[in-house]
Amino acid sequence: MSTISYSDKIPNNVNLSEDRTLQRALEQWQPNYLSWWADMGPDGSQDFDVYLRTAVSVDPQGWAQFGHVKMPDYRWGIFLNPAEKDRKIHFGDHLGQAAWQDVPGEHRANLRRIIVTQGDTEPASVEQQRHLGLTAPSQYDLRNLFQVNVEEGRHLWAMVYLLHKYFGRDGREEGEALLERRSGEQDNPRILQAFNEKTPDWLSFFMFTYFTDRDGKFQLCALAESSFDPLARTTRFMLTEEAHHMFVGESGVSRVVQRTCAAMNELKTDDPAKLRAAGVIDLPTIQRYLNFHFSVTIDLFGADESSNAATFYSSGLKGRFEEGKRTDDHQLKGRTYRIINAVNGQLVEREVPMLNALNEVLRDDYIQDSIGGVERWNKVIEKSGIPVRLKTPHKAFHRNIGALKGVKVSPDGRVISEGEWAAQVDQWLPSASDRAFVRGLMGRVVEPGKFANWIAPPVMGINRQPVDFEYVRFA
Ligand SMILES: [Fe+2]
Ligand SMILES: [Fe+2]
Repeated sequence: MSTISYSDKIPNNVNLSEDRTLQRALEQWQPNYLSWWADMGPDGSQDFDVYLRTAVSVDPQGWAQFGHVKMPDYRWGIFLNPAEKDRKIHFGDHLGQAAWQDVPGEHRANLRRIIVTQGDTEPASVEQQRHLGLTAPSQYDLRNLFQVNVEEGRHLWAMVYLLHKYFGRDGREEGEALLERRSGEQDNPRILQAFNEKTPDWLSFFMFTYFTDRDGKFQLCALAESSFDPLARTTRFMLTEEAHHMFVGESGVSRVVQRTCAAMNELKTDDPAKLRAAGVIDLPTIQRYLNFHFSVTIDLFGADESSNAATFYSSGLKGRFEEGKRTDDHQLKGRTYRIINAVNGQLVEREVPMLNALNEVLRDDYIQDSIGGVERWNKVIEKSGIPVRLKTPHKAFHRNIGALKGVKVSPDGRVISEGEWAAQVDQWLPSASDRAFVRGLMGRVVEPGKFANWIAPPVMGINRQPVDFEYVRFA
C-alpha cells in the first residue's frame, strides 16, 4: 500500500489504474499542468539537472530518493498516508462516528471550497518565486528553491486528485481553474492576498518559506484532523514535505543574520549605511521584512470571529491544530475565547464563543510556533555579542482582515493616529528604498561552494553531500 507505483504515467499509491475514469481525467489534466509549469514554473531553468528528492514511499523512514533530474521530468504524483483502520471522527457534532470515505452531500460545497483554497496556494507560491533562480546566492540555495517549487507543484496534484476523485465535473472544472488563476494578476488573481504579493528577492523568499509555509503547516495540520478521511491522509503526507520548506526559510534567515553580525563585528559598527556599503543586510532591515511577512501571513487565518470557522469545526471538516492531543470535549459548545478589538484608541480583549473564534485559536497556535525560530535567530546575534534582538510584532500590527483591519497599531501594540503611522511606517515595514537596496544586492552566484557576500554558507549540505557539491548542473 505504501509503495509508490512509478510504472504508471502518474506515480501513485492509490491504485489509480483500477479506476479508469479517474485515471483518464487526471491524464487529461497532466499536460495542462505541464504547460502551466513551462509557463509559470522556475524561469529559464527547465533544462537544468537538479539534485532533487523524490518520494518513493510514504513510510516515515526512507521516503525520499535523491538524484539529478530536470524539473519538468520530476515525477509528480499522488501519495496518501496509509489508511488508519476503523478511524473515527474525533471532534464536532459527529464525534465517535466512522470517518467518511466519501463526501457527505450536505458538506460538499464547504469541502470543495476548503480544498480549492488550499490547492490555490500551491501553484501561487511557484509563480511568486519563479524569477528567484536568476539571482540565487549559491548552487545550494538554488537547489533548495527548486526543491520547494517541485513539491508545491506536487501539493497541487494532491488537491487536484481529491477534486477529481470526489467532486465529479465540478471538481474537474476547479482543477482547470487552479491552472488559470495567476498570482498578482488583476483579472484572475489567486484566492488569498498573501499569495498575490511579490517575492522579489531572496530575503523575501526566506521570510516567506519561514512564515508563510508555516501557515501551510497549520492549515494542513487542521485538515489532517478532518472527518473526510482522504483529505486527512493526503494532508498528512504533504506535511512531511512542508517541513523542508520551513527549514529552508529558518536556516536561510539565520545565515543572513550570521553574515550581518560577522560584518558588524569586523567593521565595529551598527550603522546601517556602513553595513550596506559593505554589502550586507542591516538588522533593522531584516526586522522590517520580518514585520511584513509575519503580519501578512497571520491575516491568512481569516477573520477573528467567523461563523464559517464554527461550521467547519462542528461539522467535522477542519479540526484544531493537534486536535487529537487535546483533552477537552472536542465540541467546545459554551466555551469562550478572547479576541482583540480596538475601542476608543485602545486594544481591548473581548470574550466570544470559542467556536466562532477558531480562526483566532489557530492563529495564536501559529504565532506561538513561529516565535521559536525567531528566538533561534536571536541566539546567532547573541553569540556574536551584539545586543540587538529580532521580535515578532504585536498581532494587531498591520492587519487587513477581521476586527483589526485597517486599525493603525505600532509593532509594540499601541493604537496610533494616521499621522504617526505615516511618519513611522518606514521604520516598521520595508520601504521602497529598503527593497531597492536588497534587490540591488541580489546577483547570481553559481560556482559550487561559493556564496553571495550577504549570506553565510550552511553548516552542511543536502543529504550529507558536501556544501560545494554540484547541486545543479547547468545545460
Ligand atoms: Fe504546499
Ligand atoms: Fe510549502
